[in-house]
Amino acid sequence: MSFKVPRGTQDILPGQTEKWQQVEGVIRDLCQVYRYKEIRTPMFEATELFQRGVGDTTDIVQKEMYTFEDRGGRSLTLRPEGTASAVRAYVEHKMFGQADQPVKLYYTGPMFRYERQQAGRYRQFVQFGVEAIGSANPAIDAEVIALAMDVYGSVGLKDLKLVINSLGDKETRNAHRTALINHFEPSISEFCSDCQNRLAKNPLRILDCKKDHEHPLMATAPALTDYLTDDSAAYFSQVKKYLDALGISYVVDPNLVRGLDYYNHTAFEIMSTASGFGSITTLCGGGRYNGLVEDIGGPDMPGIGFAMSIERLLLALEAEGIELDVQEGLDMYVVTMGEEAKLKAVELVSSFRTKGISADMDYLDRKMKAQMKAADRASAKFVIVLGETELAEGAVNVKVMETGNQEKIAFHDLVNFVLEHK
Ligand code: HAM
Repeated sequence: MSFKVPRGTQDILPGQTEKWQQVEGVIRDLCQVYRYKEIRTPMFEATELFQRGVGDTTDIVQKEMYTFEDRGGRSLTLRPEGTASAVRAYVEHKMFGQADQPVKLYYTGPMFRYERQQAGRYRQFVQFGVEAIGSANPAIDAEVIALAMDVYGSVGLKDLKLVINSLGDKETRNAHRTALINHFEPSISEFCSDCQNRLAKNPLRILDCKKDHEHPLMATAPALTDYLTDDSAAYFSQVKKYLDALGISYVVDPNLVRGLDYYNHTAFEIMSTASGFGSITTLCGGGRYNGLVEDIGGPDMPGIGFAMSIERLLLALEAEGIELDVQEGLDMYVVTMGEEAKLKAVELVSSFRTKGISADMDYLDRKMKAQMKAADRASAKFVIVLGETELAEGAVNVKVMETGNQEKIAFHDLVNFVLEHK
């Protein structure tokens, strides 16, 4: 019997994990600079949270959730995204009462969606997301977008396209909804069964259909932009003005609708335009969700955020041929000859590590030559060889691997020597 990772999931092995850590480090640093604080929420929540939060008619809720009943008979769901959980926590912990608004949160962690596996689409993937809750100022929309762009810029990505749209307010949505129903209803039988269901429940979602996207009525569908109320239009032009001020270029796409129900006003996606990138080009998606906090049982507080998967960020790096500068090297490898030397080596390796010097030694009783090869493979900066003579003298030749130079150093000075020269 042989076991494999479940479909749509992956093992991230040493060699790869260093890249993840590097990206996660960039994220942590940037969030600190932008003053977003980390929040960690459970990996599962009451199913109803997502039904209400993400929306009953979305693909996520209808087809993609990992839902199960626990032994107490509660319906729980592995989180398919992070916004609903962050907003639940914001309400539950009454963060709306904090003096400092908006509350700016970020999270990184696995999300789960039962989707068809393909390049860049997984059933478990890691999202980095931010949520700024408590401000309906267009400057925060621009800040959130700038942070997402900054993450990509900081890892060196260049082939990016930022697409923005306004989904307007309630009034906009209602007028547009009526127009969409009138547009699609006469020919709805030509559309898939999902779209037929969407017509009455949420016709906007028809525009996002993966099956019918080439139907001619899609291209001629009434654009939301034509139904924007004066207030919504003014808000959108402010967002654009702030983006201009930040020097962030964007394309306005009136057909950009997001796959989750909670959005209004600003919606955006960041795509990779790298030629080697697969068919799924969206790296990041987000938008404003005024009304969601109330839907989840809190006060009327506006919010905006985004999420991006780390997997897709790494794929984009690969497509652009960017190698992250991953520090893998070892400071010190201690080669040993004989049992006595091994005992001393254990002690020395420990004293290096205590001072933050990375150190390793042989645990396979290999010959000296094989140990030297191991030191080479580990790209050790320094190597010492401990044998009877060294033990007797209490000193050892430290070999600087880059230059081949050697210097004799007493055991008790080794740590300082390495600290000074590494
Ligand atoms: P979303 O568009 O569903 O939005 O997902 C955001 C990002 O998560 C996508 O752009 C993509 O990078 C990644 N992603 C989604 N599904 C998969 C998958 N199956 N495999 C790999 N990556 C995936 C949200 O989740 C919203 N919560 C974003 C948000 C936060 N809006 C406001 N605040």
